[in-house]
Amino acid sequence: MSEFRITGKAKLAGVIGHPVTHSLSPLLHNYWLARHGIDGAYVPLSVAPDAFVTAVKGLQAAGFRGANVTIPHKQAAFAIADEVDPMARIAGSVNTLVFREDGTIHGSSTDGFGYVANLESDGIAVDALASRGPALLLGAGGAARSIATSLLEKGFHVILSNRTAGRADGLVKELDAAWRQSFPKADSPQLSTIAWDGWEQQLGDMALLVNTTSLGMQGGPAPEWAPDLSKASGHLVVSDIVYVPQETPLLRAAREQGLTASGGLGMLLHQARPGFRAWFGAETEVDEATVAYIRTALNKR
Ligand code: ATR
Repeated sequence: MSEFRITGKAKLAGVIGHPVTHSLSPLLHNYWLARHGIDGAYVPLSVAPDAFVTAVKGLQAAGFRGANVTIPHKQAAFAIADEVDPMARIAGSVNTLVFREDGTIHGSSTDGFGYVANLESDGIAVDALASRGPALLLGAGGAARSIATSLLEKGFHVILSNRTAGRADGLVKELDAAWRQSFPKADSPQLSTIAWDGWEQQLGDMALLVNTTSLGMQGGPAPEWAPDLSKASGHLVVSDIVYVPQETPLLRAAREQGLTASGGLGMLLHQARPGFRAWFGAETEVDEATVAYIRTALNKR
């Protein structure tokens, strides 16, 4: 660790959520700030939904450089941005706000980027994987939306499966329409759904499996959840965005079967990089020291 610096000219950012107590982002950004010796600070900001716009305007007035936005504000952040990047437009959600000097707000969605960057840093050649077969994505919530968008960008055929089938159908329609609108000249996105009770049987065709549901999460609806992976080909990559516990039953089952498995903590770390660069002006790295620092903090909770 290098030096902790904060002066009257400190660069300021934070994370807006409700609640925000669970967020690891303050620890991560302040760790990187100290490591780079940057004069800055990153704080947790607990803001109720009806105060979101007031809070953002207040942060701008106070000279903040921007903020991360987490549950339940990601759609409100999309609405407040004057300009959003294409992936955020398709996902319909924003998790990173940058306050520009001219007073306008730029919004981006970095969750999908974080997911793909984490696969790559786990040694998985994502472009090659996309040409090997479809990605089967479990869930249809906010995380599914961002990850599906990034997987489409990487050229995957994305197949959604969700307990409530209507949510998966709705998400496919929305993503398809938003993709065509953003990229009218590009090929149509390859998006489809399969039944929740039928996906285990289809695993032999898949190149990537990603769990974006809360199944397997400590304290969640089914912490012991581990599906039957016996139909998977030996090339299937299994990933989980749940990171408490760090090795979910799904990941353990995949490893025990000799499959490549990728955990959720790295997505959280990588999604933070674009914001850090925009607000504090430095590139960061998700190296062993960063992962160890955040792991230790998680284990103390
Ligand atoms: P997020 O925005 O974090 O993705 P969410 O919108 O609450 O969270 O979505 C949670 C996901 O976990 C949903 O896909 C949900 O399925 P439903 O749409 O059917 O609710 C899924 N999920 C939660 N509990 C589940 C359970 N016991 N079995 C199967 N899926 C479950």
